[in-house]
Amino acid sequence: MTPKFILAPMDDVTDTVFRQVIAGCAAPDLFVTEFVNVDGLQSPGRPKLIHKLEFANIEKPIIAQIWGLKPDNFYKTTKELVEMGFAGVDINMGCPVKDVVSNGACSALMNNRDLAVEIIKATQEGASGTIQVSVKTRLGFNDIDYSWHELLLNQNLDMITIHGRTRKQMSKVPCDWASIGEVRKLRDKIAPKTLIVGNGDVISRSQGSELAKQYKLDGIMIGRGIFADPYIFSKDSPWSHQTIQERINLYKKHINLFKDTYKNGERAMKTLNKYCKIYVNGFDGAKDIRDKLMHAESIDELLKLVDSIS
Ligand SMILES: Cc1cc2nc3c(=O)[nH]c(=O)nc-3n(C[C@H](O)[C@H](O)[C@H](O)COP(=O)(O)O)c2cc1C
Repeated sequence: MTPKFILAPMDDVTDTVFRQVIAGCAAPDLFVTEFVNVDGLQSPGRPKLIHKLEFANIEKPIIAQIWGLKPDNFYKTTKELVEMGFAGVDINMGCPVKDVVSNGACSALMNNRDLAVEIIKATQEGASGTIQVSVKTRLGFNDIDYSWHELLLNQNLDMITIHGRTRKQMSKVPCDWASIGEVRKLRDKIAPKTLIVGNGDVISRSQGSELAKQYKLDGIMIGRGIFADPYIFSKDSPWSHQTIQERINLYKKHINLFKDTYKNGERAMKTLNKYCKIYVNGFDGAKDIRDKLMHAESIDELLKLVDSIS
């Protein structure tokens, strides 16, 4: 079976602008939004978050990733996501960040399984069978813990994505693909219809295909690999042969789309800095140019500086 390739959710990175850039290079089979907090969305703080759910047609099919603590807010938000045209909703049960975990959300739900089940049920009720419901999680909290995956596999989910590390491991050790394979074996026994997607350290489509074949996975999710190759989802990526000018043109497309999308300052211009190394890289003097670009004070100044590279 051909694995599905998915662009991973990355907060403050895979926004609608970057996803549109990637869609123009080589689209994955599925996009995911950055994670959006349902408790914030269903509060007076909503206007600060709602832009995270914007998407363009070119990004379809796309699923929204949500997180939070209150099942009722998962229910309400999911009903809205159906109306907005998302193909599915993914619940974050893997984020290891300290502040998030100390609040009891995301990967902390591995230690509060009654709440995890309530959240899944509320989301499924909100989806009422019209869109897919999935979970993205890790191998365990402190240690690998397949009882967690067994529980998830008993929730009638459409898809489970496993990032092959525990919460404790953060991103400090190599991804454990063999253990992702063990979850897939459990899936075969418990919930044959639930798709299993593997995630962690994939840096090319061919590597992803090999891993999917080796561990009999339905899909591969790629996150940071996109920084080394925006065409990573292409079967024959042109990125390594592209000229400096071609890469700069893509950077300009990204900046212009950012300018058109966030007219009301929804995102700070400085968030553009984290993409600079993708496009301005691999030639003599690239680092000095990046240093200059990252100090630009406005989008127009940035565009002028980028023009002066060519
Ligand atoms: C900057 C950054 C932001 C991330 N934000 C999210 C997020 O919003 N939701 C989520 O499920 N995972 C998030 N992740 C984790 C990635 O989706 C992915 O699981 C992880 O990076 C491992 O995959 P990779 O090695 O292909 O990058 C984030 C990772 C990074 C580096």
